[in-house]
Amino acid sequence: MDNLTPKEIVAHLDKYVIGQNDAKKTIAVALRNRYRRMQLTPEMQQDVTPKNILMIGSTGVGKTEIARRLAKMMRLPFIKVEASKYTEVGFVGRDVESMIRDLAATAMGIVREAENEKNKEKIANYIENKIIEKLLPPLPAGASDQKQAEYDASFARMQEKFAKGELDHLMVKINMPIKTEMPEDGLPPQMIQVQESIVKVLGGYGKKGPEKEVTVAEAKKILAEEASEVLLDEEKLKELAKEKVEKGGIVFLDEVDKIAVSSTSQSRQDPSKEGVQRDLLPIVEGSTVNTKLGPVNTDHILFIAAGAFHLSKPSDLIPELQGRFPLRVELESLNEETLYRILTEPKNSLIKQYQALLAVEGVELIFEEEALRAIAHYALLANEKTEDIGARRLHTVMEKIVEEISFEADEHKGETYRVTKALIEEKIGSVVEDEDMTRYIL
Ligand SMILES: Nc1ncnc2c1ncn2[C@@H]1O[C@H](COP(=O)(O)OP(=O)(O)OP(=O)(O)O)[C@@H](O)[C@H]1O
Ligand SMILES: [Mg+2]
Repeated sequence: MDNLTPKEIVAHLDKYVIGQNDAKKTIAVALRNRYRRMQLTPEMQQDVTPKNILMIGSTGVGKTEIARRLAKMMRLPFIKVEASKYTEVGFVGRDVESMIRDLAATAMGIVREAENEKNKEKIANYIENKIIEKLLPPLPAGASDQKQAEYDASFARMQEKFAKGELDHLMVKINMPIKTEMPEDGLPPQMIQVQESIVKVLGGYGKKGPEKEVTVAEAKKILAEEASEVLLDEEKLKELAKEKVEKGGIVFLDEVDKIAVSSTSQSRQDPSKEGVQRDLLPIVEGSTVNTKLGPVNTDHILFIAAGAFHLSKPSDLIPELQGRFPLRVELESLNEETLYRILTEPKNSLIKQYQALLAVEGVELIFEEEALRAIAHYALLANEKTEDIGARRLHTVMEKIVEEISFEADEHKGETYRVTKALIEEKIGSVVEDEDMTRYIL
């Protein structure tokens, strides 16, 4: 997965995102460059920093979708954050460094999952032993050999039953995990690690939580977490996760246009927006942020910023920040043909989703080819007449089309519901004719 070629990356994205080839290519190259960089001498590596990307495109054209699919495919630590949610350091709210902490937490999740998978058997054994020990009457210390043998025999019998899930309904008392999580927002970075150690001391590190009676089935889930913590080397996990963040992390910074201060707007400069931009600079440029994994260096984290830039322009960002996003891609707005393809082509496309949902009720949903074309046509018309909300318009149109059958589906088990062009015209055509109605209904 790490060394996919740009073409392979694009081919994968093509399965989910229609069109937007420039954006796909740019991102694919940025990722490949990271791989290329890894092959260089350490000295050279230091000098090659990632080229961050700015995606410009109106709402609903696939900006977030591209990033989301990409991260899923690459199994890289990825977070999507809204730039407009942050506040300047020193003011109440989330400071921008917290995005790196969130990214670190994501990486830890990925690493832990992979290690859990590698140690699947060990973990399963731990859980099994723990539960069976609780279910059997305890063997007193210094028991005779015969008692020991009997105990072992019943243990083995329990193991068989456990494997078949025959014990799942029994009740068992187990120690609940201690929750050591505390909100870390708003704390100065240096405090986070201090806070962690304090929690460990006060919460009694390694101490057991309160006992609670649960079913064996539930106990399995609760103990899985404990097993992972007991059996895996936490420090090693943290180290792996730190490396993963530093070398492969991606931050998708949505809505950057909202922190740009429009030069044409009536209201005077908003200082807090500019403050957020200034706080972003060092992080994007490369600095060190304290996280639960220890200090994380952001030099090689890839930032993908995205925004519609309707009211502001990329040039309304402070110049230093503009310079740190040298790769610009514009996403095309969607035409009728693209909308039609989005409706039908992607894996789990909208059409397939509705068909699957109604199949649950035993109703077969069929869309005639002409009907699909009509849906795309009216979606585009609605976008042109009111706001252009891109592919999201397909969702509102589709909802309108299936609302009736969706409501009554359970009474139509075994039937086929055919969506024809005439039906679309009847349901949507009249609405689109009237601009005011379109505003409210679609
Ligand atoms: N090119 C496309 N191919 C396939 N699906 C798309 C495409 N563009 C948009 N969609 C669908 O439309 C929805 C919205 O897309 P997305 O979240 O990517 O919008 P966006 O460009 O990030 O908009 P915003 O600026 O509002 O965040 C998604 O559910 C996605 O599946
Ligand atoms: Mg988006």
